[in-house]
Amino acid sequence: MKNIYFIGFMGVGKSTISYRVSRILKKKIIDTDRELEKRQGKAIHEIFTEKGELYFRKLESELLREISQQTDLIISCGGGMILKEENRKLMKDSGIVVLLTATINTIYRRVALNDRRPLLKGKKTKAHLRAMYSKREPIYKELADIEVSINRKTVSMISEEVITKVKEKENHV
Ligand code: S3P
Repeated sequence: MKNIYFIGFMGVGKSTISYRVSRILKKKIIDTDRELEKRQGKAIHEIFTEKGELYFRKLESELLREISQQTDLIISCGGGMILKEENRKLMKDSGIVVLLTATINTIYRRVALNDRRPLLKGKKTKAHLRAMYSKREPIYKELADIEVSINRKTVSMISEEVITKVKEKENHV
């Protein structure tokens, strides 16, 4: 079976939902941020501070190049994975792309919960989130095969919706 890639803005719950979906479907999961942290022995924000965003993006693309060669994986992508054309092509060619969406209010509430995200350091305002989101939104939408909103839904509801839509998609290709 093709890989399932989860994409979407920071805070939409890509990691949580992809873990749940991987448990239900009994498939192996790779969370790109966690995998990079494991390999580098550093937190994402430390990689950003010590080596910069460009270096992080390079690691991210190398990892995607490697894992997209495999099949039957659930892959939770960092929110910026879609920024490079090369990454978008790898995802499109090797899997089904699931976009999780949420309103800015929901994202704002969720990213406020921790300080792990380097791109929001000192800038956790709705205006900043809205500006970033509107730049990325067309890219997310263009790439997605399936779109699921997380607003006012539980983890179980979202996961079931994703699985149903993935199955429908598989039956139509
Ligand atoms: C990023 C999102 C983060 C992480 C890094 C950059 C982005 O992942 O990869 O901080 O550019 O949107 P999450 O989407 O899991 O927060």
